[in-house]
Amino acid sequence: MANRDIIRQLLEHFRRKDTRNAVVLTDENVERYYSGYFAELSGCVSMDKIVVPAGECSKSIETAIRIWQYLAEKQYDKNTFLLNFGGGMVCDLGGFVASTYKRGIPFANCPTTLLAMIDAGIGGKTGVDLQDLKNAVGTFYFPDIQLPADIILLQTLPDKEFRSGFGELVKYALIGSHELFQDLCKLESFKELKPEFLDFCIDFKQKIVKEDPLDHNLRHILNFGHTIGHAIESYYAELGDPIAHGLAVAQGLYYESLLSYKLGHLPQEEWLQIAEFLPKHFDIMPLSGELLEKLTYYMLNDKKNCNNLINFTLLDRIGHATPNFQIASDSLITFNH
Ligand SMILES: NC(=O)c1ccc[n+]([C@@H]2O[C@H](COP(=O)([O-])OP(=O)(O)OC[C@H]3O[C@@H](n4cnc5c(N)ncnc54)[C@H](O)[C@@H]3O)[C@@H](O)[C@H]2O)c1
Repeated sequence: MANRDIIRQLLEHFRRKDTRNAVVLTDENVERYYSGYFAELSGCVSMDKIVVPAGECSKSIETAIRIWQYLAEKQYDKNTFLLNFGGGMVCDLGGFVASTYKRGIPFANCPTTLLAMIDAGIGGKTGVDLQDLKNAVGTFYFPDIQLPADIILLQTLPDKEFRSGFGELVKYALIGSHELFQDLCKLESFKELKPEFLDFCIDFKQKIVKEDPLDHNLRHILNFGHTIGHAIESYYAELGDPIAHGLAVAQGLYYESLLSYKLGHLPQEEWLQIAEFLPKHFDIMPLSGELLEKLTYYMLNDKKNCNNLINFTLLDRIGHATPNFQIASDSLITFNH
């Protein structure tokens, strides 16, 4: 049974825009649990569904081509509404398809993972991977309506995926709210989340995106933990043993907090709180020697860099971050602490 607010908002939108056709894009896991979620909409519009295999492997140009072909074969026009119902993979892929089919059709994300509710489903970044190159092709394209998160959907989410979303949630606390960080420190388990924790993250991201929608400057603070996190993700992908996005980000949060402290930005007592908190919920691998060299190689390839320096967001204190420090890779030797 779908969340009432979600159905109400969609129905209102369909009536206002005279929408006749809506296509739900989802993956096979979400389909297994929630096949009838949007049944109520079929009284108002003609509903269709596209189900793709679950996992990052579907976030590809090949899948996008198959979806474009399906939409074209069914003669869906420019007023067809695409409803992305899934985690970050479905939101990114569906947003990309919506932004390109007929030069853009209306869409919304209805996120089903914690990570997508507080991050991937918000902010208009869409895209697909090119083999191991994450998000190598993409667009900025904003949903026509921002649907509320239905946290009931998280009941079926596997623990690993829940923990991954928790990694992103910790990021919001570190860059945006000392109070939220204190609340998270009191949790026995990462699954004891309160709805207001999610509300804070959603609101925080929406405000940042509103100020810097195309990611020119301020929005870079959302990348805290991601410079090292993405390098760790690429490292595991190359090993053929992919790691969930938020689990890599959590390790990035740890090491980018350490960097902030070593470079004199973050007070020692705050670094010590972070260093105590993160390993309670996440595995943090030691970074040194060959592994650090490998990660540095990935970091130097990041699209935000220039002049062979690595772009980092640093923490000034728990609850406040500053983006766009250009740091020489030698500084990373500091991880051998
Ligand atoms: N666009 C952005 O701003 C942005 C931000 C962060 C991450 N991302 C992208 O998001 C993707 C990761 O998203 P994700 O972590 O949500 O992964 P995902 O979408 O691959 O979902 C993870 C797994 O959970 C399953 N699942 C989803 N919802 C479920 C539910 N309610 N119950 C049971 N199983 C469910 C999926 O089938 C999948 O197997 C990556 O591609 C990443 O690049 C995008």
